[in-house]
Amino acid sequence: MAKLLELWAWYALSVRVLVLGATSLVGSHFVAATEGVGLVAAGRRDPRDIDILVHEFRKADLGQQEEVRILLEEADCDAVVNFVARTDVDGCEAERPEDPSSPAHPSGGHSAWSLNAELPRWLAEEAAASGRYLVHLSTDFVFDGTRGPYDESEEPDPFGPKVSWYGYTKGVGERAVRTHAPRSSAIVRISYPYRSAYPQKLDFARTLLARAKGGTLYPLYLDQVITPTWIPDVTQALPLLLTKRATGTFHIASPLATTPYAFAVTLLALAGLPTKQLRSSLLAEQPPSVRAPRPLQGGLKIGGVRLLGLEPTPFEEGIRTLLHERAAE
Ligand SMILES: NC(=O)c1ccc[n+]([C@@H]2O[C@H](COP(=O)([O-])OP(=O)(O)OC[C@H]3O[C@@H](n4cnc5c(N)ncnc54)[C@H](OP(=O)(O)O)[C@@H]3O)[C@@H](O)[C@H]2O)c1
Repeated sequence: MAKLLELWAWYALSVRVLVLGATSLVGSHFVAATEGVGLVAAGRRDPRDIDILVHEFRKADLGQQEEVRILLEEADCDAVVNFVARTDVDGCEAERPEDPSSPAHPSGGHSAWSLNAELPRWLAEEAAASGRYLVHLSTDFVFDGTRGPYDESEEPDPFGPKVSWYGYTKGVGERAVRTHAPRSSAIVRISYPYRSAYPQKLDFARTLLARAKGGTLYPLYLDQVITPTWIPDVTQALPLLLTKRATGTFHIASPLATTPYAFAVTLLALAGLPTKQLRSSLLAEQPPSVRAPRPLQGGLKIGGVRLLGLEPTPFEEGIRTLLHERAAE
């Protein structure tokens, strides 16, 4: 990260970046790694209240168009990085309408529609009009899981039973960014992000560790293809994207695919925890009423970021680093 800080200090001399979602699992890593230099954060919670430094904080409900408009009008910034989303996949599913084109689909400040579909559009429209550069975070859940791992050229799938409402709304947000700001935006798709520590929110890997230690592991899918994202790779990629104003879609994910079950076997074995407590299940056999749909054959291919000179971390190496950093705490 020392190289990143050097690059960032140079970049932040002349450019200010507005970070939306500085308190998020993924965004907080980037903000902490840059030590907040040149960063204006905006959102509901001041990141400084949880010891994440930023140059400036502006309070705003980003699910409200008027608040977003005022923020973008007043904020002194050259680029915007958007980590804000409603990410609770099963919670979002409760908002799923029968027909997504119906005006009755849920809206309002905190809905998946407002935060995942509309906010990116407001940001992209403003970026196109002002010349600001926009980086927008997205997910492999925009795909229906019939043909993954997916490459960067793949378009989000349409509304249907295999795509969760979370994934569909994120796909609508992506399309808006591509449509309105094609020459001044990048979309960064990630998949099952994990990091070594963040007391504010557990992730996939740390949930498995906590449950394995507490003897409360749930059965893990043996048939779901995933490419977990080591969050520090996102932090490394952002300065590259911002300094180059790179446009298009970029995937940051493990170059080696795995399954939740195989990931857990590796994690527990390397952590010295008993693997015989692991039980498996099949996503393909899960009744649709139990949880929101997840991509069965999901995951992301990573050719785009390799062209930028970044090599994302294979999941086993990410797990080793996670355990090493936790042991050093
Ligand atoms: N987590 C995953 O498994 C996953 C997987 C693939 C892709 N992604 C994508 O990666 C990005 C970051 O995800 P994450 O898991 O790091 O997010 P997260 O931890 O769930 O954080 C969401 C962020 O959005 C902010 N937010 C929510 N509602 C808001 C509102 N009305 N006004 C202002 N701010 C609001 C939250 O602020 P508060 O602190 O105030 O709540 C928080 O900073 C998202 O685009 C997500 O779709 C995530």
